[in-house]
Amino acid sequence: MCGVVGITGNENATKILVHGLEKLQYRGYDSAGIFVDDQAGSNFLVKTTGSIADLNEKITPEVQGTAGIGHTRWATHGGVTTENAHPQFSDDNRFYLVHNGVIENYQELKDEYLQDVKFHSQTDTEVIVQLVDKFSKEGLSTKDAFKKTISLLKNASYAFLLMDKEDPETLYVAKNKSPLLIGLGDHCNVVCSDSIAMLDVTNTFMEIQDGDVCIVKPDSVQVYDQAGELSERKHFEVNVDPSDSEKGTYPYYMLKEIDEQPNVMRKLAKEYLDENGKPVINDQLLKAMSQADRFYIVGAGTSYHAGLVGKKQLEALTGIPTEVHVASEFAYEKPLLSEKPFFIFLSQSGETADSRQVLVNVNAKKLPSLTITNVANSTLSREADFTLLLNAGPEISVASTKAYTAQIALEAIVAKAVGMSKGNQKATDFDLKYQLGLIATEMQSLVEEKEIINQVSKDYFVDAKQAFYIGRGVDYTVSLESALKLKEISYVHAEGFASGELKHGTIALIEEGTPVIGIITQDDTAGLTRSNLAETAARGAKTLAIAKKSLAKPEDTFVIADVDELLTPLLSVIPAQLLAYYTSLNKGLNVDLPRNLAKSVTVE
Ligand code: F6R
Repeated sequence: MCGVVGITGNENATKILVHGLEKLQYRGYDSAGIFVDDQAGSNFLVKTTGSIADLNEKITPEVQGTAGIGHTRWATHGGVTTENAHPQFSDDNRFYLVHNGVIENYQELKDEYLQDVKFHSQTDTEVIVQLVDKFSKEGLSTKDAFKKTISLLKNASYAFLLMDKEDPETLYVAKNKSPLLIGLGDHCNVVCSDSIAMLDVTNTFMEIQDGDVCIVKPDSVQVYDQAGELSERKHFEVNVDPSDSEKGTYPYYMLKEIDEQPNVMRKLAKEYLDENGKPVINDQLLKAMSQADRFYIVGAGTSYHAGLVGKKQLEALTGIPTEVHVASEFAYEKPLLSEKPFFIFLSQSGETADSRQVLVNVNAKKLPSLTITNVANSTLSREADFTLLLNAGPEISVASTKAYTAQIALEAIVAKAVGMSKGNQKATDFDLKYQLGLIATEMQSLVEEKEIINQVSKDYFVDAKQAFYIGRGVDYTVSLESALKLKEISYVHAEGFASGELKHGTIALIEEGTPVIGIITQDDTAGLTRSNLAETAARGAKTLAIAKKSLAKPEDTFVIADVDELLTPLLSVIPAQLLAYYTSLNKGLNVDLPRNLAKSVTVE
């Protein structure tokens, strides 16, 4: 987490850095800061707790420069204070550093090398900038002092941008595990955690690799690889319309992104299905997947929940057993893999460090992999053998919505494609083109039910201390996602539960007025979930149902259309997304930037 930006060679450095940080706020937003230098003897450090808007208020008109670095923080080491905000600086105020990542051995380095140095923060980052200063005082050039410091790091993840007041046009840049790109402009170069931050300056970016150290000046970029050799790195163009990441007339990105879902479904169908409804998927990918004896889906949070639905789709349409793993757990397990495993990484951002760690392990074993992501050229996309893009448009709100439904739709397309290539009749008969069209239309009706959902939120959730979503099978997986949405943005403690499991202990938590929502879309278990819902009502719960039309009762609050059972999550999740949204809104919270969170989780 944390977002970093840097620029050299532009007299509007301050404005560009602040604008870039605004775009990166999804990566962390508890504090922020910039350092700018005008190369005429003036430089300025401005830091604050709070958001980029708070930072902007502290920036006075004279804070101008032609080069600078900036940071938006998600605290790891050291509390949320102005001192701990970045840039961190050396005790003699010569070096300034921003950092995204974690330095595990920072205390050892401090004890060994910096006993006599005065520290100004509790961050792991400050150790790095003080070490550069120490080694430069011992006679090393800034570049060598930077490289020597990096060579001492153990188990570190970092995207570093360092400035030296004695050579202010140069940005010293290094990366390991944390995302970082260099953007190439006209007599001006930029550095950023995500291209979205610098699209106003350039759309040409250079991917830098783990272990690289780069020297960035207004007219040149030198990349040194891990062995210290000058290296060339690939350039790529980012073709995102910067206005896609504006919220327009919406009060929050989350509502905009919920509303975009019908179109995302249509776009996916257009992109990945031909006029006869046959999936259009790269032959090599299909071959690799068809040869697998087991699929391993890996993801975190909402992406993990989308993977749980993908398992059901893949097993039903391909007959290949599928496991789904929480990335942070799987990364450090010693799994007994099948003989021909195939890995599927689900990640909206393509940058999640937990998932990336699994991919590192997979690549070390030379096993085949696919990343399904919303971000082209993201780390997980670059490092997997194959990529399929969600093409859902930028997802800015911290709570994931359209990426979840896009992942489920694309998993279904992949499952159909692999199933068809294996001659599976069910896969051939699965009319995904029709289903996705129908789902887009039905989603549209559901997102238009905003007023009803707003009222339900007020009646059931705003004053609730806890809530439960329950269901069986695929509905259980949607319960998990629905509960996550509610808790992360409204702070109502919510759990998703397998409805049959509730009576084995957790039902003790049901009190007078506890909201319990049953998700009922599967023919063979509908009756059972109804009974489980009734059991909670008998103990005082206020119950609600999200039910498929053919299974609905007149009193059910939300009725969704009858679509294929493998795709019902695409509809049943919509009321849950909107309930979370309105509960957060009605409680007066910041829907898009909930406390303690960040959108792109780039630390393990
Ligand atoms: C919840 C949410 C998170 C992410 C998780 C993985 O709304 O957004 O749970 O799903 O951090 O992120 P990605 O999908 O970028 O790997």
